[in-house]
Amino acid sequence: MPTLFDSTQLGSLTLNNRIFMPPLTRCRADTDGVQGEHAAEYYAQRASAGLIIAEATQVSALGKGYINTPGIYTQQQTTAWKTITDTVHQKGGTIFCQLWHVGRISHTSLLPAGKQPLAPSAIQAQAQTFTANGPENVSLPRAMTLEDIQTTIQDFKHAAQCAKDAGFDGIEIHAANGYLIDQFIRDKTNQRDDQYGGSAENRARLLLEVFDAVNEIWPVESIGVRFAPTITFNDIEDSDPLGTFSYIYEQLHHRKAVYLHVCEGAAGISESSEEGKAILKQLRKAWPGFYIVNGSYDLQGGQDVLTSGYADAVSYGRPFIANPDLPERLKQNAKLNTPDPSSFYGGDTKGYTDYPALEQV
Ligand SMILES: Cc1cc2nc3c(=O)[nH]c(=O)nc-3n(C[C@H](O)[C@H](O)[C@H](O)COP(=O)(O)O)c2cc1C
Repeated sequence: MPTLFDSTQLGSLTLNNRIFMPPLTRCRADTDGVQGEHAAEYYAQRASAGLIIAEATQVSALGKGYINTPGIYTQQQTTAWKTITDTVHQKGGTIFCQLWHVGRISHTSLLPAGKQPLAPSAIQAQAQTFTANGPENVSLPRAMTLEDIQTTIQDFKHAAQCAKDAGFDGIEIHAANGYLIDQFIRDKTNQRDDQYGGSAENRARLLLEVFDAVNEIWPVESIGVRFAPTITFNDIEDSDPLGTFSYIYEQLHHRKAVYLHVCEGAAGISESSEEGKAILKQLRKAWPGFYIVNGSYDLQGGQDVLTSGYADAVSYGRPFIANPDLPERLKQNAKLNTPDPSSFYGGDTKGYTDYPALEQV
């Protein structure tokens, strides 16, 4: 059985180890969604991860939901990302881009001309976002027309091309955590009565059409998808997660997606109930492919899921924020730096590029 430190094959990519860095929003881009000057150093410091999945990156101006998040739809944004991917590659790393549309988790002050956020149905979330005024309740969204849906699918395709131009090694479609695609998938947020609402097949349609659009730019062996089927973060829920996500996993297997990346719930952020955890175990059976788990893992927990054959890789979120050399630290079973939540979202180099590696301690 593999260890966390063994290399692995992901599509045509050979990865150095099975300790992955999941997407982590850091809100240090400028108001045009162009990555900040320290982002290349931040990601390069973490290039020893088997795979870096870069922070959620909006596919369009309407896909933005928090202040200072990066985009991947303009030339300037693409050029800034290219510097980052080049730096990671020079350090021997591999980096995917997480394509993101927040849907209803946004605020009119963050959107062009104060527009309303988009959503499958006009249901306001009991959730907050960060704007120029600090934390604020999200705005009432507008139900998307069929034309809005087609435009959004094309936005994902355009962003996928920009990500290719920016030198990424692959794409992760963000279908987790209560954002647009998840809002379509789960029935608490999707109350449409057209071909994008109702049955699981209909609620999965946006995701699968986005997948196929991205696949016009990237081969399937470069496209993974992220889910969090049992967490309720951002006011989301499904009446039958097992049925809904089994169907989706089977469809993605049929399409030969390169991986599923599942957030099982995480202490202090988004817990999963015991029932939810049991559902995730059932769901795992519907996906025979490469499986990445995430959520509050430590060294032993990560090793255990590899040893049992449950997962092929483990992603460590907050540990990677605070430990740029996490694989080496885990290998030595060394003490880990403690992450500081006050510098997670926004700010300068403090809590971003200044966590020391072992050799500096
Ligand atoms: C600061 C911060 C930013 C995050 N940003 C994203 C994101 O951009 N995309 C995403 O899918 N998940 C995001 N997450 C969730 C993490 O990827 C991960 O699921 C979570 O931290 C649980 O893993 P951990 O217990 O190893 O930290 C974020 C979490 C944190 C703490």
